[in-house]
Amino acid sequence: MAEVVIVPTAADAGALVADEIAALIARRPDAVLGLATGSTPEPVYAALRSRLSGVDVSQVRGFALDEYVGIDPQHPESYRTVITRQVVEPLGLDPARIQTPNGALETIEHAGEDYERAIAAAGGIDLQILGIGTSGHIGFNEPGSSFASRTRVKTLIQQTRQDNARFFDSVDDVPMHCITQGLGTILDARHLFLLAFGAGKAHAIAGAVEGPVTSSLPGSAIQLHEHVTVVVDEEAASEL
Ligand code: GLP
Repeated sequence: MAEVVIVPTAADAGALVADEIAALIARRPDAVLGLATGSTPEPVYAALRSRLSGVDVSQVRGFALDEYVGIDPQHPESYRTVITRQVVEPLGLDPARIQTPNGALETIEHAGEDYERAIAAAGGIDLQILGIGTSGHIGFNEPGSSFASRTRVKTLIQQTRQDNARFFDSVDDVPMHCITQGLGTILDARHLFLLAFGAGKAHAIAGAVEGPVTSSLPGSAIQLHEHVTVVVDEEAASEL
């Protein structure tokens, strides 16, 4: 059973998860963080600034959940750029220790395997931050994804492209494909933190936390993990 924590605001959720991350880094200076993008984890990264100020973070490692395929890594909305802007630079992490899946078309055939190897070489992910899509996706594992899946290329469903259109000039500019850690990859992390805010996430959260374990709602895979903390506001918890 996941532990569910209902907090008044997203900022409270950010503080709670940031405290956990800071404690982890204090215990283990070379902690391996699983980093998510999207709006949901932003309060975590914001809260980490004060908690990690003055802390030696030079050994911290990190792996992003996913990346768009075929996007220029310099594009302001590539997940490499987003992680650099929201996490690496403000927290003073070593950019060489923070990886995102490589969405370059030239090497895409081996990019999934390469990423899995890099995660394994780091000893696995200690703490994985997760958001959830309105489709119930975690990472970019859309409905139908195998619970055993590893990092691989996927096609984004139209709903997700629409949800993410706010980061681009128009929905047509949202890439069609992504490379994402698989559900199996995510389940290998030692502690999962799933965050969600707002009524728009209530259905996905109810399905993930207490619905049937089904690939129709990929977030329900968290029920197979023994160490999960779900941090939600009242609205996102409203269908629990
Ligand atoms: C994005 C990301 C996911 C994220 C989800 C929710 O597209 N690939 O990792 O959790 O969709 O996004 P948001 O937090 O912006 O609602």
